[in-house]
Amino acid sequence: MKTVVCPGSFDPVTNGHMDIIRRASGLFDRVVVLVAANQEKRNHFTPVERKAMIEKVLAQDPSMSNVVVDLFDGLLVDYIAACGASAIVKGLRAVSDFEYEFQMAMTNHKLLPQCETIFFTPSPQNMYLSSSIVRQVGGLGGDISSFVPSCIHDEIWAKLLEEHQNMSR
Ligand code: PNS
Repeated sequence: MKTVVCPGSFDPVTNGHMDIIRRASGLFDRVVVLVAANQEKRNHFTPVERKAMIEKVLAQDPSMSNVVVDLFDGLLVDYIAACGASAIVKGLRAVSDFEYEFQMAMTNHKLLPQCETIFFTPSPQNMYLSSSIVRQVGGLGGDISSFVPSCIHDEIWAKLLEEHQNMSR
C-alpha cells in the first residue's frame, strides 16, 4: 500500500493543486492532502476552513475516494514518519519554484533519509496559478472562476472581498 502526502498551505486550494492531487490519486493507493503550517506566510483562511474546502471539492469527485485531508502543525517529516508515507508529492510550476522546493526536499531528506520528494509538472493551463494570485485577483473583485473549483468559489470570493474591505477601512 503506497501512501503519499501532498503538503501545502492551500490558502486557498486552487485548480492547480487539485490537478496535482487528482493525478497523484491515480498513481498511488492513498493520498493524504496535508494542510500544514508555512511559518513564512501569513494565512488568510483558517486551517479548518482550508481543510473543509478541500474536502468539499473531493466529495464531488468519486474518482478521488482514495484521498483524505488532514491538518498538521509540526515538522512535515514527523508526520511522514508517523503515517508511514512513501513520499511527498509537490507540484513544480516554474523555475521560480525550483530553488525553494529543492531546498525543502533536500532538508526533508536530510531530516528523514527515507523521505523522498516527487515533483509533478503542472498541466499547462495551471502553470501560472497560485494561491497568492487567487487572493490578489479575488481581493480586488477580479474573476477567479477559472482559478478555483466551482463548488468553493463563492466562499473564497466572499472571504477575499471581506478581507480587502476590512483592510481599506
Ligand atoms: O504551499 P506551501 O506554502 O509551499 O507549502 C509549504 C509547506 C507547508 C509544505 C512547508 O512550509 C512545510 O513543510 N511546513 C511544515 C513545517 C516544516 O516541516 N517545515 C520545514 C520544511 S523543510
